[in-house]
Amino acid sequence: MVNVAVLGYGTVGSGVVEIINKNNALISKRVGKEIQVKYVLDLREFEGDPVQKILTHNFEDIKNDKDVQIVVETMGGLHPAYEFVKAALEEGKNVCTSNKALVEAYGPELIALAKEKNVNFLFEASVGGGIPIIRPLRDCLAPEEVLEISGILNGTTNYILTEMTDNGSKFDDVLKDAQDKGYAEKDPTADVCGHDAARKIAILTSLAYGKSVAFEDVYTEGITEISDKDIVYAKNLKKKIKITGTARKNGDKVSIHVNPVLLSKAHPLYNIDGVYNAIMVRGNMVDDVVFTGQGAGKLPTASAVVSDVIEAAKFIDSNINIEWSEEKLSLEAFDDTEWQYFVRVQGNASDLSDSIKATFGDVSFQDAGFNEEVAFVTPKIAENKFNELINSFKLINKIRLS
Ligand code: HSE
Repeated sequence: MVNVAVLGYGTVGSGVVEIINKNNALISKRVGKEIQVKYVLDLREFEGDPVQKILTHNFEDIKNDKDVQIVVETMGGLHPAYEFVKAALEEGKNVCTSNKALVEAYGPELIALAKEKNVNFLFEASVGGGIPIIRPLRDCLAPEEVLEISGILNGTTNYILTEMTDNGSKFDDVLKDAQDKGYAEKDPTADVCGHDAARKIAILTSLAYGKSVAFEDVYTEGITEISDKDIVYAKNLKKKIKITGTARKNGDKVSIHVNPVLLSKAHPLYNIDGVYNAIMVRGNMVDDVVFTGQGAGKLPTASAVVSDVIEAAKFIDSNINIEWSEEKLSLEAFDDTEWQYFVRVQGNASDLSDSIKATFGDVSFQDAGFNEEVAFVTPKIAENKFNELINSFKLINKIRLS
């Protein structure tokens, strides 16, 4: 018998209990041992819910119970999640978490502690919800030198951009809809400003290269500046606006950024719409592989957590090596990255065309029928050069091409 304790009976935690109970026979068969949820920790009462029978309000009950081999952390936030996870690992218990903030902030420390105690710290659900990406990156792609990871990593913003593109919906209306459907973070600025995606690409990049990237070091732009006019231009260009998180190897450095991009039809992420996420990994041997699925929501995310429970149960007496040290990964300055830019500036084509061409070179002008503005696509230039050149114009918005 393998006993599991679940910390936090919110959306994901209750999903974990539901999956372990509903699919118990097949999960136990696949593990080769019976699995049961012995405790659920939550401050609240759940009168009438069968979970009430196994509910505790005291973490010490779980920590001191030698029969609990696996602790699932689905509380979210850094504290007390960090203290509980650390204490569980110190007691020689395996930990499976969906908490990306915890993984991004304390990943290497908790991985090292799990190794020292010969148990596992697993976090499949921390990136991409129900999409298998952490274990494939760690195991299936272990023979590869990773050249690039690029993903649509946030369901809320992908849903907003899709609705704006397909149905002409207004940003604020779609955000409210995403919140009502439970996709958005408690504070949706983490979604719309790109911080949620920045945490996710920081985790994936740290795993791919074995060294740490802090999410604060990821260049991050959200989607708040994207307007319905940008969407019209994107359609004219036969492209879609998406927000992607990308890490790209460039010599001995890695450039890492989250920002809106214009994707052409040939791009593997072009057709990923709605709340769906997708992650493309380019290896130096396997070439491109793409993982896609629901990046948020109760059962998809809980399913990823239970996949960790199954792995921890199978490897109950041994540590699975995870390469992720505290050492900082060497990053390329965002200023040095090169892009083609779609640009809108204030003014009239008759006044500005010559100076735009003289400044940016071989541009392609775009006309979507809007007055008092000129739009164009630049050749490839470095970010710092673009910022210097655009100073002579009144910028309305710019979106990079990818
Ligand atoms: N708010 C996140 C999203 C949930 O919209 O993708 C999963 O991290």
